[in-house]
Amino acid sequence: MNYAENFCLGHLNSFNLPCCAEYFCSVSSIGELYEAVEFAKTNNLAIVPLGGGTNIILPPILKGLVIRIDLKGSSITPYIFDQPWRELTLRAGENWHESVLYSLSNKLFGMENLSLIPGTVGAAVIQNIGAYGTELSDFFVRLTAFDLDQESVVEISKNDCKLGYRDSIFKNEYKDKYIILDVTLKLNNSPKIDISYPDLSAYFSASSEMPSAEEVAAAVVEIRNNKLPSISEEPNVGSFFKNPIFSKKKFESLLAKGNILKTAPTIAINDSHIKIPAAWLIDKCGFKGKNFGGIGVHKIQPLVLVNNSEFRNPQGFSDLMSVVKNIRDRVYGDFAITLEIEPRIYGELGYA
Ligand code: EPU
Repeated sequence: MNYAENFCLGHLNSFNLPCCAEYFCSVSSIGELYEAVEFAKTNNLAIVPLGGGTNIILPPILKGLVIRIDLKGSSITPYIFDQPWRELTLRAGENWHESVLYSLSNKLFGMENLSLIPGTVGAAVIQNIGAYGTELSDFFVRLTAFDLDQESVVEISKNDCKLGYRDSIFKNEYKDKYIILDVTLKLNNSPKIDISYPDLSAYFSASSEMPSAEEVAAAVVEIRNNKLPSISEEPNVGSFFKNPIFSKKKFESLLAKGNILKTAPTIAINDSHIKIPAAWLIDKCGFKGKNFGGIGVHKIQPLVLVNNSEFRNPQGFSDLMSVVKNIRDRVYGDFAITLEIEPRIYGELGYA
């Protein structure tokens, strides 16, 4: 196996930040992964797994061994009489959106609302990807992972993954302890269309017939393309912040501070909790469409920060960190709400 030294990851992270990794390798089999882990342990190197690089922020210098997870392949269980579902197992390095299209081409339904989410299948579990009324947890059943301490392959059930809103055990107790190898999804043999998310119901409002799953996927692609910046034109990592979720009691106490929060388009999560769109908070603080050096707050979806700086701007990381700090300080100052950061930030200046 080839271990490249001082390897530039500029083209392997969607925020396009220049980053020099101490060591880099790419693995396409479990055997290669074993070998890479041994190399890291022998040389006392931290391990940094890399998927599509679409939800990470990298510092100019990254110590350790970056292992690109390039495990490819998939399998589908056979039809069983009277069983309305089949299981699709995808290896961690498969591209998420291509996997959605693959599921549809095999008449497997459930993933369509998550079309066009960038990144790989393995990374999808770590943050329990969600969009347009669906979350991965709606159809995820289990995964296999490589235990980095024990150097063994283990199966982890959905329950044990502790999936929540943009959250899983892999961001908490199991952080940096496992590398996800494959993911199994339980998908329906016939579509169960959900177009209740406002953007989707508006899209199909003129039609009296229920759309097909393929039409829902195409609609999601169109909505995302209209609303979110494309990674190739404006490098970004999607939503930079999570939407804050509060108990109704806590929300009442925030309202009592007398700010304009009472006009926020809140969304009920359940009987006791509500979500406030972070996009609205950032918008109300006046950041939408603004540029700070090379870092921009997107003009349509202010939850997304974009990298407009010159390619490989060495200041990119620290510029981004100061914009993030400005936004969080201002939102806290105006609303007493702390915005949680969504992507993983590596590096000393980072928050993670
Ligand atoms: N809004 C504003 N000003 C704006 C834009 C939006 O006030 O400039 C308010 C609107 O009231 C709108 C609300 O924000 O109704 C919510 O906006 P949107 O429906 O676009 O969704 P979001 O909550 O901002 C989340 C996900 C997205 C996902 C969409 C659609 C998070 C952190 N983000 O965004 O995920 O695509 O819902 O389901 O939960 C991602 O994770 O990278 C991502 C793009």
